[in-house]
This record gives sequence, structure tokens and C-alpha cells, in this order.
Amino acid sequence: MKRSRQDVLIPQEQIEKQKEYIQKIKAHYIGQDIQPLAFLVTYGCQQNENDTERLRGMLAEAGFGFCDSAEDADLILYNTCAIRDHAEQKVYGNLGALKRLKRRKPELIIGVCGCMMQQKPVAERIRQRYPHVDLIFGTHTLYQLPELLWQVLNTHDRCVRLLDSDGYIAENMPIRRVGSVTAYVSIMYGCNNFCSYCIVPYVRGRERSRDPEAILREVRQLAQEGYKEVMLLGQNVNSYGKDLAEPLGFADLLERVCGVDGIERIRFMTSHPKDFNEKLMETMAAQPKICNQLHLPVQAGSNAVLEAMNRRYTRETYLDKVAKIRSMIPGLTLTTDIIVGFPTETEEDFAQTLSLLQEVRFDSIYSFIFSKRSGTPAAKLDMTLSDEVIHENFDRLLEVQNDISRQINDSYIGRTEEVLVEGQSKTDANMVSGRTEGGKIVHMQGGSERIGTLVKVKITAAKTWFLTGEII
Ligand code: 5AD
Ligand code: SF4
Repeated sequence: MKRSRQDVLIPQEQIEKQKEYIQKIKAHYIGQDIQPLAFLVTYGCQQNENDTERLRGMLAEAGFGFCDSAEDADLILYNTCAIRDHAEQKVYGNLGALKRLKRRKPELIIGVCGCMMQQKPVAERIRQRYPHVDLIFGTHTLYQLPELLWQVLNTHDRCVRLLDSDGYIAENMPIRRVGSVTAYVSIMYGCNNFCSYCIVPYVRGRERSRDPEAILREVRQLAQEGYKEVMLLGQNVNSYGKDLAEPLGFADLLERVCGVDGIERIRFMTSHPKDFNEKLMETMAAQPKICNQLHLPVQAGSNAVLEAMNRRYTRETYLDKVAKIRSMIPGLTLTTDIIVGFPTETEEDFAQTLSLLQEVRFDSIYSFIFSKRSGTPAAKLDMTLSDEVIHENFDRLLEVQNDISRQINDSYIGRTEEVLVEGQSKTDANMVSGRTEGGKIVHMQGGSERIGTLVKVKITAAKTWFLTGEII
């Protein structure tokens, strides 16, 4: 059943109430003559990084500075990811290691939030086995950080705020972004697709779109602050707007974002192949500000596996869409996600994934070994291939793709590309780095005055993961 907009949007009074807590926290630390420092760690996807930018925004307004090590911090906060077991294990490891620090420094506040906390058994495990964790909250209560932190400061008791919900939208929260040139803008939250392996629909709730006006306000604000590029984020951006009172498609939203002066480049992710349609292809081709880059996760090359994954497209329809968009946007950079070792996957199925890579020749891929996520339909399936074979297949996949990526990148040598300079190199003060329109990373000689500018760069060398060039 469609939820009313009122049920989805957090009332502004509640956001204002959080802002009052922010002021109380600030006064608390000023009263004690403490300059509090926070150490924030993010796992997972761009959505999570964007959430952390909001956590950082709330904390900055409450007077927090930020540090890069747990030892220096007054508050340590983990924004967790549930998509694969590996990310979860890291959080458990880190939390375990903090036990001693907390013993030495009892006033230290340790918090865990994000997707892992939306799984009841996981939150319960943290609650029971990690008594030194003070703050536990999930994706649906992220905006309540000030209230929860205030409670911990006052009661010195642990504070747990978890909600089992279809999710909300909280507008007008403070934000403190990482970069100064390119910015994430979440346009929608949640997912309705229920791919059989994926935990996201269970931890991030149902699809809900931000109002186009709220998105445009944010993008205009970014342009005013000097940002040049926006990356529009959603689990499935093609579903954007279906839940709005006046439905508006993603392509229409993109056109409106293109109208914002000062924003030179627009990217978006992620598109689901079943919904990636001609209207969007046409908009991408027609609008010069929309980058010639597409991330289109295929997951597998075999129709039997795609069906078991509940992806609702076939290898053939995927290939058709790729051919179509490539004919409309020559030089498009195409990337994808691949899962190796889905439970039903046989050697023949895997061979089809390899052949798909060879047929499509993606610029790069993000590949993952299947991870059993309890509560998802795929977790109940018996495994076909052994762990050993799956790991071997994973290595073969990387080998095949690395060759392709390297060949494609080599073909850039000698070309001139327009690069948006995003920042200084971490290792060399005389180098800056940025991205081509297609999203390829380029390192080049240059000073910090180049940051935020578009420069023409002659590509002089290529590696599997990045290019090197000279500013013309
Ligand atoms: N195991 C392995 N990879 C997964 N992904 C999502 N769920 C799982 C899982 N259970 C991958 C998909 C998705 C990407 C973000 O993470 O490839 O596109
Ligand atoms: Fe997960 Fe599928 Fe939704 Fe992506 S589209 S978040 S893989 S359920």
C-alpha cells in the first residue's frame, strides 16, 4: 500500500528539536571547557558515506572537531554496512579492540549505527557482547543522533534507538561534506527490488523519493558553495519519483538538475538494468552536463542465475541495452557489479559471466564473492560450488577483467581528456588528481590552485586503475 507523504517525511518540528539538542551538547562541552573530537568510520556504499556526512554535520554544529584516530577521540562512531559478511566482521573486530581504550578512558563515547543495526540479531549481539558500546541506532533514526548523544552525556547510560520501519525522509539536517568539488546528493532511499541475495531492502526500507524541490535546493546550494559536480544517489535511481504525489521520472529530475548554473557535471548511481530505459538514454545523450558514464550492475552472465537472483532481466536484454546506449553515447564509460558463487551457480553459469565480460568489455567491474545474508531468500539455498572453486573463479574473473581494463586504459594514451581537478595527491604535493568525464581517475602535475577547475589533459600513461597525464 502506498504510504502517505506525511508518514514518510519527518516533521520539521522534529528536526528543529534535534537542533535544540545540538545546542545543548555544544553548551555542555563549552561549560566543561572541552573541545570534543569525533572519529567517524564509514563502511559500505556512497549512501552510507553521504549519511556519515550528515552525522558529521550534526556533530560539527554541536562543536565537535574531527580526528583520524580512536586514541584522540571523545566520540567514536561506526556507520556500518550489512551487504557482506566481511564488512560486518571488521566492525566486530574494531569494537572488540576498543574495549581496552574505553577502560583507560571511561568518558569516551562509542557508537554504532547504520545498516548492521537494522538486523535484529546483529544489534542484539552488539548489545550483549560489547557492553562498552554506548550508542546504538539504525538507518531510520540517524537524524536523532543529537538527542541520543545528549542522553548518553547526561545519564552515562547506554542508549539504544532502533526502529523497524519502512523508512523516512529527514530534510534540512546539517551536513559537512568530505570534498569541495564533487558532492553526493541522495535523491531517494530504500529499495523495493528484493534481489534474492540482497539485504538492502530489509535494512533500508521501502523506496521513497525526496521532493524534487528539496533536491534542487540542495544542488543550488552546492553550486553557490562552489561545487562543480554532483553524484545523484539512490539504490535504483530509475524508480525515482514513483511515490511522489505528482509523479516525476528520473529523466525529468536530471533535466531539472542540469538547469542549475555552476554545476558542470552530473553523475548518478545506481541504475537497475530492468528499469534503465530509452527515455533516460535519450536524456543522457541530449544533456551535455550528464557525464558519459554508466554503472549498470549485471551481477551474472547466465539467465538461470539471473532468474534465481530475481533480477528480472536476461543476458540478452542487458546486452541489447548496452548496445543501444553505446550507439547513442560513443565513448561511454561502462562499469558493473558481479557476484561470483551465487548458490545455484555452476561452472557453466560462471563461464557465461566470463564470456559476458569479454563481450561487453566493461571499463572496470566491482566483483564480490556471494555472501550469505540471513533473512534473504538466497541464504536458504544449498551451495553448488565449493568455496575453493568459487575463490578460483573469482581470481579468474579478475584476471580477465584486469586485462580488459588495462587494454581500454592503454587506448587513452595520447588522447586529450577534459578533467575536473578534485584534489591534491596524498603522496606528492606537486601532483593533483581528478576525473575524466567518463569517471576515470587521472593524476597530473599541478598546484592546489587547479582544484575545482576543468582542465585539458594529455594522457601520457595508463595503469589498470588510473591514468597519468599532463595539463595542456
Ligand atoms: N553477496 C555478495 N555481493 C552482494 N552484493 C549485494 N548483496 C550481496 C551479497 N549478499 C553486491 C551486488 C551489488 C553490490 C552493491 O553489492 O553486486 O550490486
Ligand atoms: Fe540490493 Fe537488488 Fe536493491 Fe540493489 S536493486 S539494493 S542489489 S535488492
